[in-house]
Amino acid sequence: MTEHKHPKHSEHESTVSAAQVWDEKYRSRAKIWSGEPNPQLMAEAAHLPPGTALDLGCGEGADAIWLASRGWKVTAVDVSAVALERAEAHAQERGHSGNITWVRQDLATWVPGELFDLVTAQFLHSTVMPWQQALQLAAAAVRTGGTLLIVGHHPAGLPPWGQHHDHAAERFYTAEQLAGELGIEAPQWRLDVVDTRHRSATGPDGEAAALTDAVLRATRLAAH
Ligand SMILES: C[S@@+](CC[C@H](N)C(=O)[O-])C[C@H]1O[C@@H](n2cnc3c(N)ncnc32)[C@H](O)[C@@H]1O
Repeated sequence: MTEHKHPKHSEHESTVSAAQVWDEKYRSRAKIWSGEPNPQLMAEAAHLPPGTALDLGCGEGADAIWLASRGWKVTAVDVSAVALERAEAHAQERGHSGNITWVRQDLATWVPGELFDLVTAQFLHSTVMPWQQALQLAAAAVRTGGTLLIVGHHPAGLPPWGQHHDHAAERFYTAEQLAGELGIEAPQWRLDVVDTRHRSATGPDGEAAALTDAVLRATRLAAH
């Protein structure tokens, strides 16, 4: 796990705030997510030739581990040290830690130092940071010829558990809103998928629910 040793004061404050929120959430249970890779990631990335990947808001690491198992060299970023400790342990158990770099950073201030063949953000929903900010970072980190994959909860199909309905209009987006707000359009981008997908899911206490995902996949055709 890496992190800047001497953050500027404002970065430090921001990191503490988002980190506190998420560390507390992760500490509330021994395991928050299913441990399985996200279905839209598997559907949208299985055909891509492996290269370098950036997983933003990687949580307990299932997506990063899945990508590493398919030959990707992964940089996985999250603000929660608790989540990253779990993610690192899972990767080691499964023999994939050599291909994953875990980075504890707040996406409100962190800037990646390189471009990636694939940038994926799965359910990167924050109560602290406007969604546009981290997802603009995601789009900017895709190399020419590379893939941007963003999956989020669609505002019309939110999970019934947790506090998803608080400030929902500010936190959640459709794929069309994503493309519009991030400027994912020709000639710089080819939009490959702009979709609304329904799926069944099981909540943290075993409750069944019908969820809706917003899915955007795009290929960067030219640098900004
Ligand atoms: C809903 S979880 C999704 C986790 C994972 N992508 C998945 O689908 O299982 C959102 C993740 O984003 C992380 N996150 C939220 N705000 C962040 C920020 N400002 N910087 C970095 N990570 C953040 C949280 O710690 C959390 O792990």
